[in-house]
Amino acid sequence: EEKALAGKSLNNAKSTINAILEEKKVLLSKVESNSKDEFDFSMPGRASSIGSIHPITKIMNKSIEIFESLKFECVEGPEVEDEFHNFSALNIPESHPARAMHDTFYLDNNFLLRTHTSSVQVRTMDQQDPPIRIIAPGKVYRKDSDITHTPMFHQIEGLYIDKEVSFSNLKSIINIFLKSFFEQDDLKIRFRPSYFPFTEPSAEVDIEYVDSKGNKNWLEILGCGMVHPNVLDMAKIDSSIYSGYAFGLGVERLAMLKLGITDLRLFYENDLRFLKQFQRM
Ligand code: DAH
Repeated sequence: EEKALAGKSLNNAKSTINAILEEKKVLLSKVESNSKDEFDFSMPGRASSIGSIHPITKIMNKSIEIFESLKFECVEGPEVEDEFHNFSALNIPESHPARAMHDTFYLDNNFLLRTHTSSVQVRTMDQQDPPIRIIAPGKVYRKDSDITHTPMFHQIEGLYIDKEVSFSNLKSIINIFLKSFFEQDDLKIRFRPSYFPFTEPSAEVDIEYVDSKGNKNWLEILGCGMVHPNVLDMAKIDSSIYSGYAFGLGVERLAMLKLGITDLRLFYENDLRFLKQFQRM
């Protein structure tokens, strides 16, 4: 008895639902055909964003261009180096305290991530006879991270070996490069006596800049000196005939001064709002 009653109301429900579904179908097919009619093929598409060269790469390229105009040949060396090329051949023997100055990332079997591009000096002297006039740009690595240090940074090494190369040649090339790079003839440059095992005498070079509070400061941007006779002798270059100068430039330091950046780490966070400012540089 109950079955007949339930069947009837179930059938009612079924046809009500079917009617609603049918109504919706018609409605939806109308919307679909309308939207097809209205599609505007002349609408502009989404613009794709165009990438740009990283500011550090631009600073590197500009520096390389200047050195090439001064007749330096650009060469490269490996980032995974051995202790011999990174230290020993640069007059830094195993127990020498200068090894501790570099917070080195060591790998297996006496390999390491090069701590400076000076290793390329050694590789070049192995392959070329003097006169040698090269720059070697590239990445270097040290266990260091704060507002003025990142574990990876860039250097440009320079090496010139010939007969009668003097410290005044070194000073002159550094002055020409820096004034040209900063496009400033009255740039204040300071050579400060320093120590590196692979050069004697050695110097560090500072540039005067005005900070955000209007105070004058000096920022160290490179190390340099006359190639130590031991380094020449180890490379089988006769130090009684040849002399040379070398320098190692900190590319990020140049970039900070040129672009007015105070926190080095910004360069490597890849925040597009930061990077986009240098798109047209
Ligand atoms: N290699 C040194 C460093 O990483 C910089 C340097 C100093 C390079 C003196 C040189 C040089 O070629 O002559 O701190």
